[in-house]
Amino acid sequence: MPYFDHSATTPVRPEVWEAMAPFLRERFGNPSSFHAFGRTARQALEEAREKTAALIDASPDGIVFTSGGTEAVNTAVIGVARSLADRGRHIITSGVEHHASLDSARALAEEGFEVTVLPVDGYGLVHPDQVREALTGGTILVNIMHANNEVGTVMPVEEIGALTREKGIVFHCDAVQTAGKLPLSVDRLNVDLLSLSAHKFNGPKGTGALYVRKGTPWKPLLHGGSQERARRAGTENVAGIVGMGRAAELAGRDMEGESARCRVLRDRLIEGMLGLPDVVLTGHPVRRLPMHASFCLAGVEGEAVLLGLDMKGIAASSGSACTSGAMEPSYVLTAMGIDARLARGALRLTLGLGNTGDEIEACLREIGPLVARLRSMSPLAGAC
Ligand SMILES: Cc1ncc(COP(=O)(O)O)c(C=O)c1O
Repeated sequence: MPYFDHSATTPVRPEVWEAMAPFLRERFGNPSSFHAFGRTARQALEEAREKTAALIDASPDGIVFTSGGTEAVNTAVIGVARSLADRGRHIITSGVEHHASLDSARALAEEGFEVTVLPVDGYGLVHPDQVREALTGGTILVNIMHANNEVGTVMPVEEIGALTREKGIVFHCDAVQTAGKLPLSVDRLNVDLLSLSAHKFNGPKGTGALYVRKGTPWKPLLHGGSQERARRAGTENVAGIVGMGRAAELAGRDMEGESARCRVLRDRLIEGMLGLPDVVLTGHPVRRLPMHASFCLAGVEGEAVLLGLDMKGIAASSGSACTSGAMEPSYVLTAMGIDARLARGALRLTLGLGNTGDEIEACLREIGPLVARLRSMSPLAGAC
């Protein structure tokens, strides 16, 4: 069954599961324990920290393990704002961030912070000049994602980071969709904090990391024990973290070849889809993730297309997993200026390990007649 929803989640690689399994069985120690069981777990944790850090070209000391991307993003955004509240109360983000960011910013607004939500262009890009113009004397944090999960557009993070560095403002980047897919270096990107999630690069769900540059002011979100050098309380998910480390190692090793392979498949998919009538590509045509293809199909409901594909054994998505099922048009597509009726025909096909050219051709063979059939019955037909 072709699985084209790798931006929602990815399968755990067999090597990752093999690395994790002993830590759910005989190597069950608590890394904070003094005895041999504890030391074994501690050593595995520190090895995973090194491997995770290597994926983003960071110092292992900067890695704080979390329960996933959502916790990492919340910790970064809320932690920086609260710790710098006496210096200023203004934060800048964009209208196409993941809900983890937008809802953290909303929570801060309820605490009295002022939040500027930057608009994006028709490709979903935030321009560094917009960030520059939004800065005020009270700006303490800029929070912009690396690549968008719905349309795959890759933001000019280096340039935004160069600006925040020049102004001495903390910069957090949500790299959940790019880790393991694009080469990342925290220094090159000029970020102070960076969020990761293991399940997006063939690691386990419920495990992530926040990179924090030395000297960056922030406060932990969770209170309790002094795990993660008092930066994140709670007994560590050792098996998950070991899995994340192994997944990071494998993703780093295979990135170049896998990205090139996926890019060819993606381009064929885009070419085939754009050969259908009234289909538009969403996101940037060039600055996009190598495994990401997303479209709006005029005159149909995206959900109906997904259902039809699902009946043929093809797994796709209308956008982010978090908003699918909601009948509202995507806030990302709306922010990009896409008409609400057209946005209802959103379809996202995201590739990963195991996808083949034959699967792409099979998908293209199914989708044309499916869309034609749906259009002939749809009340949205004529929306194009
Ligand atoms: C861009 C982005 N940020 C954050 C998250 C949240 O990550 P997690 O599922 O690990 O909580 C996601 C998940 O879809 C995402 O795509």
